[in-house]
Amino acid sequence: MVSLRFLLCFLFVSSAYATIVSHDGRAITIDGHRRVLLSGSIHYPRSTPEMWPDLIKKGKEGGLDAIETYVFWNAHEPTRRQYDFSGKLDLIRFLKTIQDEGLYGVLRIGPYACAEWNYGGFPVWLHNMPGMVFRTTNKSFMDEMQNFTTMIVDMVKKEKLFASQGGPIILAQIENEYGNVMGPYGESGKAYIKWCANMAQSLDVGVPWIMCQQNDAPQPMLNTCNGFYCDNFVPNNPNTPKMWTENWTGWFKQWGGKNPHRTTEDVAFSVARFFQRGGTFNNYYMYHGGTNFDRTAGGPYITTSYDYDAPLDEYGNLNQPKYGHLKQLHDVLHSMERTLTYGNISTIDFGNSASATIYKTEEGSSCFFGNGNENSDAKISFQGESYVVPAWSVTILPDCKNEAYNTAKITTQTSMMVKKPNEAEDTPSTLKWSWRPENVDNFILKGKGDSTQTQLFDQKVVTNDQSDYLWYMTTVKFKKRDLFLGKSMSLRVNSTAHALHAFVNGKHIGNQHAENGKFNYVFEKDVKFKSGRNVIALLSITVGLANYGAFFESKPAGITGPIFITGRNGDETIVKDLSAHKWSYKTGLNGFENQFFRTESMSKWSVESVPFNRSMTWYKATFKAPLGNDPVVVDLMGLGKGTAWVNGNNIGRYWPAFISSENGCDAKCNYRGAYHAEKCLTNCGEPTQRWYHVPRSFLNGEGDNTLVLFEEMGGNPSLVSFQTTRVGSVCANVYENKIIELSCDRKPISAIKFASFGNPYGNCGSFEKGTCESSNNTVDILTQECVGKEKCSIDVSTKKFGAPDCSGAARKLAVEVIC
Ligand code: GAL
Repeated sequence: MVSLRFLLCFLFVSSAYATIVSHDGRAITIDGHRRVLLSGSIHYPRSTPEMWPDLIKKGKEGGLDAIETYVFWNAHEPTRRQYDFSGKLDLIRFLKTIQDEGLYGVLRIGPYACAEWNYGGFPVWLHNMPGMVFRTTNKSFMDEMQNFTTMIVDMVKKEKLFASQGGPIILAQIENEYGNVMGPYGESGKAYIKWCANMAQSLDVGVPWIMCQQNDAPQPMLNTCNGFYCDNFVPNNPNTPKMWTENWTGWFKQWGGKNPHRTTEDVAFSVARFFQRGGTFNNYYMYHGGTNFDRTAGGPYITTSYDYDAPLDEYGNLNQPKYGHLKQLHDVLHSMERTLTYGNISTIDFGNSASATIYKTEEGSSCFFGNGNENSDAKISFQGESYVVPAWSVTILPDCKNEAYNTAKITTQTSMMVKKPNEAEDTPSTLKWSWRPENVDNFILKGKGDSTQTQLFDQKVVTNDQSDYLWYMTTVKFKKRDLFLGKSMSLRVNSTAHALHAFVNGKHIGNQHAENGKFNYVFEKDVKFKSGRNVIALLSITVGLANYGAFFESKPAGITGPIFITGRNGDETIVKDLSAHKWSYKTGLNGFENQFFRTESMSKWSVESVPFNRSMTWYKATFKAPLGNDPVVVDLMGLGKGTAWVNGNNIGRYWPAFISSENGCDAKCNYRGAYHAEKCLTNCGEPTQRWYHVPRSFLNGEGDNTLVLFEEMGGNPSLVSFQTTRVGSVCANVYENKIIELSCDRKPISAIKFASFGNPYGNCGSFEKGTCESSNNTVDILTQECVGKEKCSIDVSTKKFGAPDCSGAARKLAVEVIC
């Protein structure tokens, strides 16, 4: 094996841009150089092609070497053998944008993605093929997976985008985290992973293949780690470099959930710790999360926003201080590339979770001082000097003498984002609405669909996931003298519909949605049936198909039953099982089929008595695009649940009526101690998602724009308004002898709201003066240096601000500026 590696190494080194694993397994070698690689995930369909250059450029400026993306099979092959690579799905254009920016690419073909993407990236038609089982040695599955994977590889090769061809792609991935779920697949799972490895190898891409979370990854697949921390990860082969494919920068959001937040200090800590302990490739998942447009959100219940608390926010703004603090870390790590990838490693354990790691080459040494203790700072003495390493932090000393970076000491500004009203409108908050009802009469009165079956089917099987909506309809006859008629009767539906509306004889008897995490529930309502024919119409709605777990493809969705009518007459109860009745099915809704969201003419839309709180209602309004270039959002406060379009572009599902619970938010959010998805939550008791991204490229700069809403539950559109998001104020809170840069992101700084040099306390937006303060007028000094400028750099020193007596404690500057 070793000799084969040497041979490969030798062969590849001679060709330009080749990526290989260094012969000792320490690093990825690109074009003859061992690299410390920082990478970030940006998923192309979660933004628009117009946004890509800016996002990727910001990645580069943030110190990334590479951009990583999955490939989304169900988006590219929505119908078997019919492909779509247009617009947001233009994978090649995305890869070329990475190349144009001079960055590397990491292509995770999967084709299973997970990614909180609908059905984990698998097409639903695939599930509906006879005898199909995903992700195991199932012939049809393997054939289809191979077909799609080969097609992607061929496309990429044709454009010469693999590093082996002189292109940017240095690594490719097959499967995704299969190791986490493979137990239930037994021996077939093991055989499947071997097949994946062979299949991938046979595609001959000329760059290494990775498999994440796959302890039994067959050679030459490189197994890699995913998680919030990967410093303890040991690859399954001594010649595999220590690589981290998913360092989760935050977390995803679900309807009913709160806003996740992973602190900057903790992300930086995890990265520094990983490199302290021999890591060589770190990819942020996500670097830009973006938006789940249309029906791409997975689930159930993944929100339209996929912000992820990533270094770039949903709209592409810098999420500060995360972006800047990580940028500084990347610069320091890159400066140590040679020592990190060639140096001899030695470690000193100081006890109490404190340690020093020294990387030493003949030219010099670089050090990491780590403190994994969550409560106490570590005092370390090293080569005659003493250092304090704050709890839960890592200090990096590129020369083993001077502290260049500490993960817990943030010297990057915090940016507070604000939403501004649409200045292009005179009265931006009162859009003029017109409306039309969704025509459901055929279904709720007649129970008439497209096909009938004497069985209740899983929704996916009927709809092929061409729509979120499926009608299940049946008729029930009661004799005139039926003893139960007029007595207390109810309809009981065992449901796995994410949301459900029930109608009996044209009357809406109720609706219900699953609680997050409990997608199996009983809907029960009292109903008055009449003698003769009764029509029961149930509208089942999916809110993103499952994307994770063993055999997730078979998780039920829709109304899988059983369904009963129960009646009570005195002590007697009858139960009538309707499950094997004749059920009539209809996929989709009339307004979607007739593309109401595209309708140009006003003819059938009425401006008279626009209804509020009416279910199954279409609303339409025109508006002017907000001035300027700041990202645009639409505030859908007041609405219930539905879908929104701007100029015919589906901006995703909305559900502002879904309020998160009051409890579980953590005002104090301590970065110390291991992060988990329930830590540091915000937005308790508020709509899970109120604002929805409208990419600028969806808008007409001049002239009118159209917003169309389909409201399922009933809502009030009168509060809907378009807004822009931008930096409202920026803050810094740094110790003396640092330089801090303040920037309003290409807008001038307009005023200094707060400034104090001494021992101020509090957080951005609520700073307070402390007990000691400089007698110099700090606000005046900063006004002179910053106001009117787009950015200013401040030397936080006593020379500049005076030397207040803070009883020997280090002095700090706290400043808040208005943009
Ligand atoms: C991982 C998966 C990613 C994403 C992540 C959570 O398990 O590989 O695709 O789903 O979890 O955001």
